Amino acid sequence: MKRKFVSLLLVAAMGMSLLAGCSNSSTEQTTTESPKTDAATEAPKTDDAADTATEAADTATEAADAATDAVGAADADLAGKKVGVCIYQFADNFMTLFRTELQKYLVDQGFAESNITIVDGANDQATQSGQIDNFIADGVDVLIINLVNSSSASTVTDKVVAAGIPLVYINREPDADEQKRWTDNNWDVCYVGCDARQSGTYQGEIIGDLGLEKIDFNGNGKIDYIMIEGDPENIDAAYRTEYSVKALTDAGFEVNCLDDQVGMWDQVKGAELVANSLSRYGNDVEVVFCNNDAMALGALQSIRSAGRTVGKDIYLVGVDALVEVVQYVISGEITGTVFNNHISQADSSADAAINYLTGAGNEHNIQCDYNKVTTENAQDILDSLQ
Ligand code: GAL
Repeated sequence: MKRKFVSLLLVAAMGMSLLAGCSNSSTEQTTTESPKTDAATEAPKTDDAADTATEAADTATEAADAATDAVGAADADLAGKKVGVCIYQFADNFMTLFRTELQKYLVDQGFAESNITIVDGANDQATQSGQIDNFIADGVDVLIINLVNSSSASTVTDKVVAAGIPLVYINREPDADEQKRWTDNNWDVCYVGCDARQSGTYQGEIIGDLGLEKIDFNGNGKIDYIMIEGDPENIDAAYRTEYSVKALTDAGFEVNCLDDQVGMWDQVKGAELVANSLSRYGNDVEVVFCNNDAMALGALQSIRSAGRTVGKDIYLVGVDALVEVVQYVISGEITGTVFNNHISQADSSADAAINYLTGAGNEHNIQCDYNKVTTENAQDILDSLQ
């Protein structure tokens, strides 16, 4: 599982605006896609396409592994290098897994633990910008940044590049215009992450694969759902919202959005919002889509409190594959989730940082794959996580 399956590509970036509310949920967003050059970047992926993507990604992984080995041999002095890591918010389950793996992998690669500093942006861009200034003043050799606001990328890039420090963005993808500047200026700046369209598609497929007969409890011929979104600043939220529903309509289902609310990736907010929707729309709610697992855990609490039972009179999907959620998938209390591979993303981010330090350099956009998690493979996923 720790094997990286990373594909290198040019740019798969996008601009998008998002407002919560059913009318905006899937039809009114604008998406600008740059041309892609790698099969692994096509999104959304079906399982067949995912196979092709995996092969392409495997080839890229081998190349990346070879490059990393060469790099490691060429530079044994990582122990003396200082790494600054900015996380948008420590109180985020997924980013906690990510940063824990990142620190571990950096140490495994030869960095001294005392030279790795990871700071909490407390979900405040001003706080994070101050932390970046401090890292620059401190003369770190490389920065790994999970922005609070993706829209701050150009300001952050400008000051980090001016200081001559290579920069790896993670988790919150800067837009296409920003990424174009890195390419046009040949700056040592890149983004490492997954294509959230794939995760949304997988969520929709998990539901669609159940078949209308099993889902349509109220018999109106439609899939009636509520959507609980993450932070609208994050493209992951926008794409998961759009592509989960698109997978259903592409498969020929009629859908009906009962409610679409912003839960900011947070379990407590997710629980509150789902409780409200359930009391308002009652048994008409057939499916609860959550943009991440933390909110799905909150949703599960509210589903139980409302006397509903997942798999019997309602369905629930998340994204991330938190251990607790994968356990619920096994027991049937959550319909499914999508593995957001924090291990491959963290390791690839560290590899990218190393490639800058050794002069090997990187492509400007480095992508990872998601994996669907259902009762069929949940135990395997759980085994790989523990
Ligand atoms: C997403 C993840 C969420 C949350 C978010 C933070 O990729 O699924 O759980 O961690 O990143 O930006």
